[in-house]
Amino acid sequence: MKCTAKAPANIAFLKYWGKSDDLLRLPANSSFSMNLSEAFTLTTVECSDSLNRDVIEFEGETVSEKETHRVIGFLGAIRSRSGIRSFSHVRTKNSFPKGTGIASSASGFAALTLAATSAMGLALSEKELSILARLGSGSACRSIPDGFVMWEKGTTSETSFAHSIAQPTFWDLRDILCIVDSCMKKISTTDGHAGVKTSPLWEERMTHLAQVESAMLHAFTEKNFSLFGQIVEDECMNMHAVMQSQSPPLYYWNETTTMLMDKIHGWRTEGIEVYYTIDAGANVHVLCESKNLSQVMHLLQGLSGILKMVINAPSKGAHVVNEHLF
Ligand code: PMV
Repeated sequence: MKCTAKAPANIAFLKYWGKSDDLLRLPANSSFSMNLSEAFTLTTVECSDSLNRDVIEFEGETVSEKETHRVIGFLGAIRSRSGIRSFSHVRTKNSFPKGTGIASSASGFAALTLAATSAMGLALSEKELSILARLGSGSACRSIPDGFVMWEKGTTSETSFAHSIAQPTFWDLRDILCIVDSCMKKISTTDGHAGVKTSPLWEERMTHLAQVESAMLHAFTEKNFSLFGQIVEDECMNMHAVMQSQSPPLYYWNETTTMLMDKIHGWRTEGIEVYYTIDAGANVHVLCESKNLSQVMHLLQGLSGILKMVINAPSKGAHVVNEHLF
């Protein structure tokens, strides 16, 4: 059987940084994110008796042996669960070209989870899909449900999954993804998560996060953008303070990143409602409400150093589509 799935990348407002269980990819804290409409992965999986191994193709990208092995290992786990013996042909394509510094593991493993389980005849619930995607790549579990998504940290594999707390239409936010770096990450998030406890700020972050979570969710529910944006930005800085004080330290920003951060602070003093958040990379996610989008875009377009901008609205999660990649 052949199946194609589409899954969005997501941007974390409350960040996942550090695990309580490496093997099961259980996070040290719950996290909260928004699915991105214009940054997504399409994946087609077909099981075929004529194959004597799994065939993995990435359209328009060269992929390392390590990445291919990770996908094959993940497919094997789904295969043994399904009871199907035949191998799979997998083709995958990102809406964002590799080399733009956008992490593709969340959308990639979410799309692969849905396409592979469907192709192998497994009809899983959203919760089961989210758990499975988490085992591929932690933040991928948040790309399964629709819109605005909470990943409950849980204490076991069965209790650590993501669910939607609001549909994409709940709040017309915009995430202007400013691509400022065309390089791949030097240090993978897998290695980064492993080093968190070496940061002297780590324990304090863990204690502080419960309060951040409730304040952020309150501002979100009230659609109080000024409050929400400030909490999101502070939370981003808190995670980066941990990253930068880990051993070895992880410093992901470049000079355009910090220039943008400064500009955004400055625009706010002029009364413009705009905030930012940054994941494990140099790219800046500029956040505003849709009613202020053209004003913010006008300001961003006046800056140099940004290679590309992608305007994202909240989007639905992973779903099956009818058009196949082969
Ligand atoms: O899912 P991973 O292992 O790529 O980790 C994601 C880590 C951050 O992007 C920095 C934060 C997050 O919650 O997405």
